[in-house]
Amino acid sequence: MKVPWSRPDLQVAETRAVERVLRSGWLGMGKVTEAAETAIARYLGARHCVFVNNGTSALLAAYLAAGWGPGDEVLVPTYTFVATVSAMVALGCRPVLIDCDPGTMNVDPAEVERVAREHPDAKGLVVVDVAGLSCDLDPLERIAAEHHLTLVEDAAEAFGGTYRGRYLGARPHATIFSFHIAKQVTAVEGGAVVTDDRKLAEACRRLRSHGEGPQKYIHTSLGLNLRPTDLNSAIALAQVRRTGTFLRRHREYARQYQERLAPYCTFQTIPEYAGDPTWMVFQILAPDRRTRDRLEARLRRRGVQTRRAFPPMHQQPYLRQRFSFGKYPHADWVYDRVLSLPMGNGIRPEEIDYVIDRTVEFFRTG
Ligand SMILES: Cc1ncc(COP(=O)(O)O)c(C=O)c1O
Repeated sequence: MKVPWSRPDLQVAETRAVERVLRSGWLGMGKVTEAAETAIARYLGARHCVFVNNGTSALLAAYLAAGWGPGDEVLVPTYTFVATVSAMVALGCRPVLIDCDPGTMNVDPAEVERVAREHPDAKGLVVVDVAGLSCDLDPLERIAAEHHLTLVEDAAEAFGGTYRGRYLGARPHATIFSFHIAKQVTAVEGGAVVTDDRKLAEACRRLRSHGEGPQKYIHTSLGLNLRPTDLNSAIALAQVRRTGTFLRRHREYARQYQERLAPYCTFQTIPEYAGDPTWMVFQILAPDRRTRDRLEARLRRRGVQTRRAFPPMHQQPYLRQRFSFGKYPHADWVYDRVLSLPMGNGIRPEEIDYVIDRTVEFFRTG
């Protein structure tokens, strides 16, 4: 058997939706994008959704709307995907890295508070909901307010995730999502800024489309082309309607992984406030790096595709060349042990069984 790390689930609904757009004669951003925005906002219980062409653009829009610019310090987790940091480096910001909690892999508010005190001139705080697991948002919002930091939540991996029973996104700060192919909801390429703040949403809308005011070709503020197409929005719209099914599938697979692999490895810690996470990816923590590498090689030989974690930002060559960083032992510890097993909307139950059987076999026989 060959099991990919992830597989989308695109069915007749998505094909028909794309066909309708193709035949409509309007392919760029239009009514279908508006419908996708309404559906996403409604699903999350949020007031505003600004759909863009990918998650990185959503970060760029949120950072520009925050007013961050050259020389501004922004606090950001080291354990994240590079886009979280690259979007701010592109604006000339200086990332101030925060170590992760080794259990949740998200930032620990106490550590954020410590770093915020050390950087009294910092302008912003970005938090990341790693692998679909919500951060502890209440204390993080309080810290951001107390230290005058604009908060942006990178929930690229967490569409459908909750914090204390409410979907991520339904808050005053900017929460960004990605709708890339391996995500819970895909547009193939797509992203969104979601917020309850009308002014922030309007700023992101202007940023998405060259800062154009009500008059055509009159640009009243800075903007870029971050627009999605109606083709991508049509796919996202069809997918949002099936989010419940997708998340149930992810949760069932995660439950099986946890149940059957618990004797051999550990997992991301799930605090109560995060409810049932979305499990965009399912990460196991091997006892040490060598075991992780051997398991990875064994699964590859058995036809199972896995992925390591993203190397933390302080290990990334281009960032090391530009900035000097401290030590982040928890992120290094996690990065050395993580192996991410197959998960995704289109992965089949028998494939999960196969992956579990092969993993158990590895741990039993060495
Ligand atoms: C944490 C995080 N932030 C940002 C992004 C960027 O999203 P996109 O690939 O849609 O640009 C990703 C992508 O996977 C991500 O995992």
